[in-house]
Amino acid sequence: MANENHEYAKEQLSRLDRRLRTFCNCCATFFQVESEAEALQAICAALVDGDDFRLVWIGYCEDDAERTIRPVAKAGVGLDFLERVKNSWGTTETGQGPPGTAARTGKPCWINDVSTDPTAATWATVAADAGYNSCIALPLIVRDRRGRVIDLRGTLNLYSGEREYFDAVAVDHCASLTTCVTHAIAAFRGHLAEDLTSGVKALRAGEQRRRAEEALQKAQAELASVSRLTMMAQVAASIAHEIKQPLGAIIGNGNAASRWLAKKPPDLEEVQECLNGVVIEGHRAAQVIESIRAMFERAPREKSRIDANDLIQEVLTFTRPEIRRHRVALETKLMENLPPLLADRVQLQQVMRNLVMNALEAMDGVTDRARVLTVQSTARDSKSVLIAVEDSGSGIQPENMPRIFDSFFTTKPHGMGMGLAICRSIIDSHGGSLSVLQGHPHGTIFQVIVPTGID
Ligand SMILES: Nc1ncnc2c1ncn2[C@@H]1O[C@H](COP(=O)(O)OP(=O)(O)OP(=O)(O)O)[C@@H](O)[C@H]1O
Ligand SMILES: [Mg+2]
Repeated sequence: MANENHEYAKEQLSRLDRRLRTFCNCCATFFQVESEAEALQAICAALVDGDDFRLVWIGYCEDDAERTIRPVAKAGVGLDFLERVKNSWGTTETGQGPPGTAARTGKPCWINDVSTDPTAATWATVAADAGYNSCIALPLIVRDRRGRVIDLRGTLNLYSGEREYFDAVAVDHCASLTTCVTHAIAAFRGHLAEDLTSGVKALRAGEQRRRAEEALQKAQAELASVSRLTMMAQVAASIAHEIKQPLGAIIGNGNAASRWLAKKPPDLEEVQECLNGVVIEGHRAAQVIESIRAMFERAPREKSRIDANDLIQEVLTFTRPEIRRHRVALETKLMENLPPLLADRVQLQQVMRNLVMNALEAMDGVTDRARVLTVQSTARDSKSVLIAVEDSGSGIQPENMPRIFDSFFTTKPHGMGMGLAICRSIIDSHGGSLSVLQGHPHGTIFQVIVPTGID
């Protein structure tokens, strides 16, 4: 008797040990899987591996017409049992087995002898074929710490080859296991939901970033092409602006030459003079184009020693026809012995010519006072020279003051608005400054300060 008891205790102990190990294996799977489906399958496999069950499956309740409990994971022998025996959580015949009852009632339902239990009558033979003699279905329902019910709407179904397997201890054990599985799946879903949400958020953020980057690239490309266009427009406008005068002079000289030739007898000396003018202005146009190209490419230009007064005289010489045409009196106040400038001659000529032309144009409307253009030069110190171009013209509207150096800003019907922009760019590249003052009582004064550029 003592021996029998001892054997029984030993058997119980090894069963408990097995169950405990199975329990641990089930728990361990939760940390090794990546999806709910994987977790469910791993649990079924771990339970079958524990040797107590021939078949383990987990079914989820579906809301179809048959109210199917669909197996979502299964392991063991005789898996085709699940094909042959349908389970439902409804009240029809297929809903009368342990899975259906457990799902409907929310309580574990077990059969300790499939062959004799009337509720198993329809599938007992199929079960017997597979060697299942007892079974239990446990609903996947738990209460969380706050007492809320978590119902996964499914059952864990275990089939044993042993009759009477499901005693109170076994049922209790299976119930604990089911609680554990349900919590794990619920946690999984929680994390999954979180992961999904954060994944979706990350995806969305990624997508938004990708779109933003694309938009930025597009904007940059557009900006680059706009800048290129602006740049090209400025180059074109600058060239057009700057060669207008040499071209005008060429045409003027050409016309004059024709007139001298048409004289009877033709005045060949004058013709020669005009042709010289054509050649000089032609060269000047070529130089201006080259100077503008260099200006925009920021290419270093050859600088030469320049006497500011000579430069002023040169410009006043070739703008003389214009000065005359605008019926303007010219005054020069040139300081002697200015420090020489190391500068780009053609570019400084362009500056002077633009300032002179603006001054002349500003006096077009003056009828009630003398139209006077005054050009002055002064040595500010040994390191820089100041050239001032003053007119007695209309003056500049205070509201226009901040914009007059902008490219394409003009108040003239046929102006391009490039003259002052070109001047400023040239003077800046020489390290000097170009500023404007209101004249008194009328007109405007432009002041150019050019550093000598010689250390
Ligand atoms: N001496 C001046 N007196 C009055 N306004 C002036 C004078 N110089 C420039 N301005 C103003 O500044 C504007 C810009 O001058 P800017 O030389 O850049 O262009 P523009 O003379 O209008 O045209 P263009 O490009 O053909 O020279 C002029 O339209 C004019 O309003
Ligand atoms: Mg101008």
